[in-house]
Amino acid sequence: MAEILDGKKIAGDMRALIRGETQALALRGVRPGLAVILVGEDPASVSYVSAKEKALAEAGMFSLDRRLPESAREDELVRLVEECNADPRIDGILVQLPLPKHIDEQRVLLRVDPSKDADGFHPFNLGKLMLGQDAFYPCTPYGILKMLACAGVRARGKHVVIVGRSATVGKPLANLLLNRGEGADATVTVCHSATADLAFHTRQADILIAAAGRAGLITPPMVKPGAVVIDVGVNRIPDVSKKKGFRLQGDTDFEGLLPVAAKISPVPGGVGPMTIAMLLHNTLKAAKARAERENQKETGV
Ligand code: GUN
Repeated sequence: MAEILDGKKIAGDMRALIRGETQALALRGVRPGLAVILVGEDPASVSYVSAKEKALAEAGMFSLDRRLPESAREDELVRLVEECNADPRIDGILVQLPLPKHIDEQRVLLRVDPSKDADGFHPFNLGKLMLGQDAFYPCTPYGILKMLACAGVRARGKHVVIVGRSATVGKPLANLLLNRGEGADATVTVCHSATADLAFHTRQADILIAAAGRAGLITPPMVKPGAVVIDVGVNRIPDVSKKKGFRLQGDTDFEGLLPVAAKISPVPGGVGPMTIAMLLHNTLKAAKARAERENQKETGV
């Protein structure tokens, strides 16, 4: 039976460390702050944003909650982003995605100051990631790397197959795993909706990452026995027996894969909590850079 990769536990340990560092920074007069911008009322986004704000508060960080109606214009959102760029209390800015259809996501993300890009979605940070340089890395891919490292899974020399080519998960994750260094050095294949014979590719994987947003896409015959499986899917399946009217299902047949995989991450309780921990990590990283700048100003060095 597969070992279950407990993202909640790993993320909880990371959050305890981050909280300690946040307290130390506060003693130097710097309280990490994140602006959380939500446009509209998509129920999944509302729930993600409240989970992020709760985690920020628990870590001792400050969050500035900014909401715009679904009908907001792109220039209003850009103005809000620029206000946050100029606000010295704000170390990081998160624009919750997806944005309403009439707003060009990429044009908005381009206006986030790259030094406050806690989500790592600005092309400047994505470019640095691709070059193997230090940057703000997107939280979900970064969280998957941490989860593998904490579970003792070494990607070096392994064949990692990623199913899904999104700009938020598949593409940055492929590049992180391809880079040289600790937790990386993998051989990477990226599959997507136009891939011919998906199962042929997934069966080659030593580490299989399902990030397609399709409930139960990965079934037992698609997985090599002994593989490590990371499930990034968060699909809401209508279920009247649940209080909220839905249950969450990942992109894998979790129960079916238990006897096949060596390790597998569950949904919920797998990658989701890791994403939040990495958002705190990125916010703290930005705040440390501010503390460093303020220190340099004071000491003139
Ligand atoms: N929507 C789904 N996941 C994410 C995320 O990690 N960041 C942002 N900004 N929006 C999301």
